[in-house]
Amino acid sequence: MSLLIQEVPTADVPMDLLLLADPSEDKVRSYLPRSKCFVASYDGAVVGACVVQSLGSGTYELMNISVHPAHQKFRYGTALLKWVIDFFRGSGASQMEVGTGSFGYQLAFYQRHGFRVTSIDRDFFARNYPEPIFEDGIQLFDMLRLTLRYSGNVA
Ligand SMILES: CC(C)(COP(=O)(O)OP(=O)(O)OC[C@H]1O[C@@H](n2cnc3c(N)ncnc32)[C@H](O)[C@@H]1OP(=O)(O)O)[C@@H](O)C(=O)NCCC(=O)NCCS
Repeated sequence: MSLLIQEVPTADVPMDLLLLADPSEDKVRSYLPRSKCFVASYDGAVVGACVVQSLGSGTYELMNISVHPAHQKFRYGTALLKWVIDFFRGSGASQMEVGTGSFGYQLAFYQRHGFRVTSIDRDFFARNYPEPIFEDGIQLFDMLRLTLRYSGNVA
């Protein structure tokens, strides 16, 4: 059996997966209707999900990517991210953006695929979430905006 990645209707993406990457269900529900959703399945079971929305002019934002905790560190997240990057490259996108914490393994996860830091949103997590968010025991305050530019695709 191999990993199957495909675009699916919004309703088919398990909310519990999306909440791993974004603890606010309200926020997730606010961007889902105007997003494209993708899932990765192994042996018929959904193990990962990714949500991407258009910002217009060939720019897309990766809103959420998550792999079920029992399946993390098996390269499913890497395969899903690569697949989604290639999907939007193939559809003529000029760039993809993502917002992530200012430290932690997720930052390396994106940078390994060519995302570069383009700006910093200070205190984003403190301003936008009612509860403090911790990663490795350290409170997350600032959000880095990262951008992957698709060379060859014109905006
Ligand atoms: C980020 C995520 C999607 C990566 O998926 P994954 O299938 O676990 O990742 P991979 O197996 O492809 O590994 C990618 C790298 O991340 C590291 N990694 C994955 N999960 C990790 C964890 N829980 N803690 C530390 N490192 C982790 C892997 O070791 C690997 O690093 P390496 O290349 O140096 O060995 C997944 O860990 C996840 O769902 N995390 C919770 C939600 C989240 O934070 N989403 C991103 C929001 S910005």
